[in-house]
Amino acid sequence: MCGIVGYVGRQDATPLLLAGLHRLEYRGYDSAGIAVIGRGGVKLHKSSGRIARLEATLPKRGVRGTTGIAHTRWATHGEPTDANAHPHADCSGEIAVAHNGIIENFAALRAELTAAGHTFRSETDTEVLAHLIEAAYDGDLQQAVREALRSVQGTYGIVVIDGRHPDRIVAARNGSPVVIGIGDKEMFVASDVAALVRHTQQIVYLDDREIATIEAGGFRTSTLDDEPTQKSPATVPWGFEAYDRGEHAHFMLKEILEQPETCERTLKGRLDAQFGTAHLGGLNLGARDLLDIRRVKILGCGSAYYAGLAGAHMIEMLARIPADAEPASEFRYRNPVIERETLYVAVSQSGETADTLAAVREVRRKGGRALGIVNTVGSQVARECDGGIYMHAGPEIAVASTKAFTSTLLCTALLALNLGRVRDLSAADGKRVVAALGRIPEQVRAVLRERERVRALAVKYMQHASAFFIGRTHAYPVALEGAQKLKEISYVHAEAYPASELKHGPLALVSPDTPTYVVLPQDDLYEKSLSSIEEIRARRGPVVAITQPGDESLPTKVDDVIVVPHTEPVLSPILLTIPLQLLAYETAVALGRDVDQPRNLAKSVTVE
Ligand code: F6R
Repeated sequence: MCGIVGYVGRQDATPLLLAGLHRLEYRGYDSAGIAVIGRGGVKLHKSSGRIARLEATLPKRGVRGTTGIAHTRWATHGEPTDANAHPHADCSGEIAVAHNGIIENFAALRAELTAAGHTFRSETDTEVLAHLIEAAYDGDLQQAVREALRSVQGTYGIVVIDGRHPDRIVAARNGSPVVIGIGDKEMFVASDVAALVRHTQQIVYLDDREIATIEAGGFRTSTLDDEPTQKSPATVPWGFEAYDRGEHAHFMLKEILEQPETCERTLKGRLDAQFGTAHLGGLNLGARDLLDIRRVKILGCGSAYYAGLAGAHMIEMLARIPADAEPASEFRYRNPVIERETLYVAVSQSGETADTLAAVREVRRKGGRALGIVNTVGSQVARECDGGIYMHAGPEIAVASTKAFTSTLLCTALLALNLGRVRDLSAADGKRVVAALGRIPEQVRAVLRERERVRALAVKYMQHASAFFIGRTHAYPVALEGAQKLKEISYVHAEAYPASELKHGPLALVSPDTPTYVVLPQDDLYEKSLSSIEEIRARRGPVVAITQPGDESLPTKVDDVIVVPHTEPVLSPILLTIPLQLLAYETAVALGRDVDQPRNLAKSVTVE
């Protein structure tokens, strides 16, 4: 959510900053800006709209300078206008600041600064930072930034330049990521490694309440209380190709099609065919700790929460421990009861989602144990949990989550297996699940071969303004995820219900204009779901079944059928989800939507 990039070195900063911004555009794309220290001081250019618009408004001869910062925005305070775009300058125009996060006490600070004679040019919370730094400036930029941040409440990842110090960028972090990229006599800084990987694989993450002064030859870090800190560079685990969309039309398509490989990576080295269990070293829990767990609560937001619902079902089925999932965004506000024997599991692709992080903190503050199922290695959720399982799905760039969803389901299946095998799950049952997990990557490949059929369905139903998605028990989270995908990228109104709930209200809206997608695994509830289909058909509602082989007569009972392979019943959500990802994608493409940058949304919700 919002992207920052900075450069200090010997090259012309502008093209590097613009290229970095393009890499971060998935994080926010309603306005953008760039500030470069040129001959006459800081040159600032900002524009509402996409980065391409900013590029078009830059002076023909470019903005020359070797130190600069840039930002792509997802608006929180103030509409996406030219004036509200970052970077923001102080009154003198010497200082420019780009910021991710929210300054909670900005209104009070703004009133104080205005009373002291500062002139504001935007409606943003960020602009107070530029004026606070100006007020604190006494010849030392880092000291002024440190001083300014003392008055601030809220979250920030910031980069600051000052025309009087053309050789440096000052960066600081509290709750919003900042990563320094180490080059050869040049340095990069960004909110996300995606902006850096083309230039360097050597990176350093700032910690919360840490500040850095970055110059072409190196950097030094300290705490906001002025204690020096030591940082060891890490190597980015993925090459820059992982951040490219390659020959695919969209990142979302690339990430959907990648799932055979991402599933394989999630499982790699973790399946134990001999004992019918999973090896999960990162849990930091021995067999005795696993045995002490009486309940599992999964916390996540949006698609991560839906994956958690399916995961909770797997845990109940395989380990016979009560398990449920809850939106992490609500959790801390209901003063939750934290139990010693409950295992709390935070699910987050980015590992940065503010609400999920706050839920982890709530659990741990009250003495609970939190594990993370996280994709981004070294992210804040991963760092704050007591242990966890990495997804290893590789960078997910599309705003709509796909490969992280299936990898989360695999991680929860591995956890369920682990918890089950220290309890009553027999070796034979465990081995069956392990064997089924081993077949998943190949089966995902088979489902992806249905793309053309799903495309035809998308075209057939794309003009319908509304759609229902239904499923029972563990098929219900798949229905929720199917509806979520469709609405977020195609803007078709979509709602999900447990199939059993249909006649308790939603049936009133079923008509020939409202297709229903039925997630229909071949399990004990198959016949019951067929009754729901009958109820829909009796109201002349079109029905599309996403199902498994076994009912030759199904095509006579519904309008369209997509079949995915058989697997162990608890694992079926993994395969049943994929046609719905494709459906959302193909519908959005057919309707001409901007698939990777859907309206009003952005990747990684790092603000509340
Ligand atoms: C939907 C989507 C969101 C995220 C949610 C949590 O396609 O991407 O609902 O799943 O914002 O994000 P993470 O997993 O990064 O915590």
